[in-house]
Amino acid sequence: MFILLLASGLTVSPILASSLHGVIAAFIGFRWGLAPWWLPINLLFMPAVLLTLSFDIAPLWFLSAFILFLLAYWSVFRSQVPLYHSSRKAWAAVAELLPRKPGVRLLDVGAGLGGMLGYLSRKRPDGTFYGMEIAPLPFVFAWLRRKVVRGGYQIRWGDFWAHSFVAYDVIYAYLSPVPMARIWVKACMEMAPGTRFISNSFPILEAVPEKIIDLDDFHHSRLYIYRIPARQPAGEAS
Ligand SMILES: C[S@@+](CC[C@H](N)C(=O)[O-])C[C@H]1O[C@@H](n2cnc3c(N)ncnc32)[C@H](O)[C@@H]1O
Repeated sequence: MFILLLASGLTVSPILASSLHGVIAAFIGFRWGLAPWWLPINLLFMPAVLLTLSFDIAPLWFLSAFILFLLAYWSVFRSQVPLYHSSRKAWAAVAELLPRKPGVRLLDVGAGLGGMLGYLSRKRPDGTFYGMEIAPLPFVFAWLRRKVVRGGYQIRWGDFWAHSFVAYDVIYAYLSPVPMARIWVKACMEMAPGTRFISNSFPILEAVPEKIIDLDDFHHSRLYIYRIPARQPAGEAS
C-alpha cells in the first residue's frame, strides 16, 4: 500500500494511508471468507502500529513480548488451540466421572498449567494422571508446579497426536472446534471400547454424547462425555 502511494508520487498523511491500508485489508479478508472477528483486526492493525510507534517504545519490549507469547502459545497458528483453563467446577465434575476402579488412568491432552492434573491426583491418589503439553511455558509451569506441590501426576512436553491413547481409561480434552473430528477418530482407533472421552466445551459432531453436563462456571461451559464404541469386525459396513 505504502509502496504504491510512494510510486504514485502522491503525498498522503500516514494516518490516512494506514486507514486506507486497513480498509483494503478488511475488504480482502471479508472477500476471502475470514471469520468476522478478523475484520476489526484488519481495519485497526496499521493505525495501531502507527500510534504505537509514536510512543517511541524501545524495540526490546516488543521482542520480549513476542518471545513471551511465542513460548506461551507456540504452535497455535497450526493447532488452532490456544491456552485457556478449565474451571474448578470442570475439575470437580471430571473427578466425579472417573471410573471407580483402582489405578484409573487419565490423559489430559494439552494439559496447560497442570491444574486439573494436580486436583485429580489429590482426589484420586490411587489413579495415574498424565498430561501432554506442547507449548514450552505452560509445560515448564506444570512441571515446576508438580515439583513444588509434589503433585502426583506426570507431565510430558510433546505433541499428543504422536502419543498413543491405548493405555487410558479416560481422555480429557479442552481444545477448540478444529481438532475434534480428528481426535475422535484417533480415540476410537486407540482407546478400548467402553472407555471415556470427555470434551470441555467442544462437541464432536460425528458422535452422540452419552451425557452432557452443564457447568455453572464463569464461561457456562459444558462437558460432553462420550463412550468409545466397540470396534466393528473387519469387512462389516459402518
Ligand atoms: C485450552 S488449553 C487447556 C489446558 C488444560 N487442559 C485445562 O483444561 O485447563 C489447551 C492446551 O493444549 C495445548 N495443545 C494444543 N495442541 C497440542 C498438541 N498437539 N499437543 C500437546 N498440547 C497441545 C495448548 O498449548 C494449550 O496449552
